[in-house]
Amino acid sequence: MNPFVIAIDGPAASGKGTMARRIAQAYGFVHLDTGLTYRAVAKALLAEGLPLDDEALAGEYAEKVDLAALDRETLSTHTVGEAASKVAVMPAVRRALVEKQREFAQTPPGAVLDGRDIGTVVCPEAQVKLYVTASAEIRAARRTDEIVANGGTADSAAILEDIRRRDERDMGRTDSPLMPAIDAHLLDTSEMDIEAAFQAAKAYIDEALAKRNGG
Ligand code: C5P
Repeated sequence: MNPFVIAIDGPAASGKGTMARRIAQAYGFVHLDTGLTYRAVAKALLAEGLPLDDEALAGEYAEKVDLAALDRETLSTHTVGEAASKVAVMPAVRRALVEKQREFAQTPPGAVLDGRDIGTVVCPEAQVKLYVTASAEIRAARRTDEIVANGGTADSAAILEDIRRRDERDMGRTDSPLMPAIDAHLLDTSEMDIEAAFQAAKAYIDEALAKRNGG
């Protein structure tokens, strides 16, 4: 039987990452946060003081990304995230990373991938597609709370501005713009906590698993 693939897409700070990790753990599937792959390219270029808009160069760096060596901690900075959304507009970068992501999706017994184009481009055949979203204001408020809870200080207006700019770049690019696949289940978490969102996702996944197992 082919591996069971769960595709989770959504904008920055929508909660899709937390959702993806929880689902992977609950079902014993492997998980890939594809944002980290774009971040890895950006970080490598920044570390060497190289330009972020040289497509041939960025494509070469994308080919060198090792999925087994992605370090969430060092890739999670704001600067790397901003740079990642710039390198992510380049088709050569996307081509190289998508190939690696598709290979990962073949891991038995199943894989959860989260990002912006999983249900539309990377794994259009995924058995379950979720599109997790929330209003920009709510996403900004959650990110602000998270920073404060970790002992940091946050400028909530700047964070909202940032989220809007990132949405615009991710939704407005020509190659693989962020959008829900036509067969994606929409999960608007603006009024939902993580537990409720997880339960809603679980219902869709259980239904698809039962169907595949002939139930
Ligand atoms: O999700 P995260 O914030 O880590 O992603 C960083 C950037 O990488 C995003 O803003 C987006 O531009 C890009 N990305 C993408 N396609 C994906 C995952 C992330 O273009 N599948």
